[in-house]
Amino acid sequence: MEFKITPTIEGEEVPYTNPSPRFFEAVGGAEGMQKLMYSFYDLIYESDIHNFFPQDRAEFDKVKEKNTKFFIQRCGGPKVYEEESKGMDLNEYMIRVHDDFTITEKARIEWLGCMREALQNFEMNEEAKMDFWNYVEAFSKLTVNNFEKRENPYF
Ligand code: HEM
Repeated sequence: MEFKITPTIEGEEVPYTNPSPRFFEAVGGAEGMQKLMYSFYDLIYESDIHNFFPQDRAEFDKVKEKNTKFFIQRCGGPKVYEEESKGMDLNEYMIRVHDDFTITEKARIEWLGCMREALQNFEMNEEAKMDFWNYVEAFSKLTVNNFEKRENPYF
């Protein structure tokens, strides 16, 4: 199966669907999600966008943990991210978190590239993988908040 990336277009509406509980089951619940997310963040740590994240390993580990909690709750698992999001809608809260950073389309593609690799390395039903990919591919468009550079990031 192909993990496609479509371009973010400034001002365009972004329809997306949250991952289904079938994905949460297929990934192996909270434990499996942690495995997937930690492997994703290991790739981020080595990526071209590592400078967006804390350089201190202990601080970086905290981001890893929070990220895992977010995805557990987002995918229909227990509400372990409730304290961080202060009861706000999870997706709205996520857009707000990313507004503190200058995120370009190029950074989004690098982020998605790490996620694609983490998913490809993870043993799981392919349909469930695609369900999750479709959510992150679309939702990540809403984290892009800097459109100044118009160079083509797809090559
Ligand atoms: C589907 C899209 C994305 C999701 C669901 C997502 C999710 C998250 C989550 C859950 C956190 C932790 C928030 C917290 O509790 O503090 C986070 C932090 C962060 N994300 Fe994302 N993210 C996405 C896309 C991106 C992209 C494209 C970038 C590009 C650079 C990015 C950069 C960051 C940065 C810099 C942080 C903060 C790290 C810190 O606290 O220092 N994210 N993200």
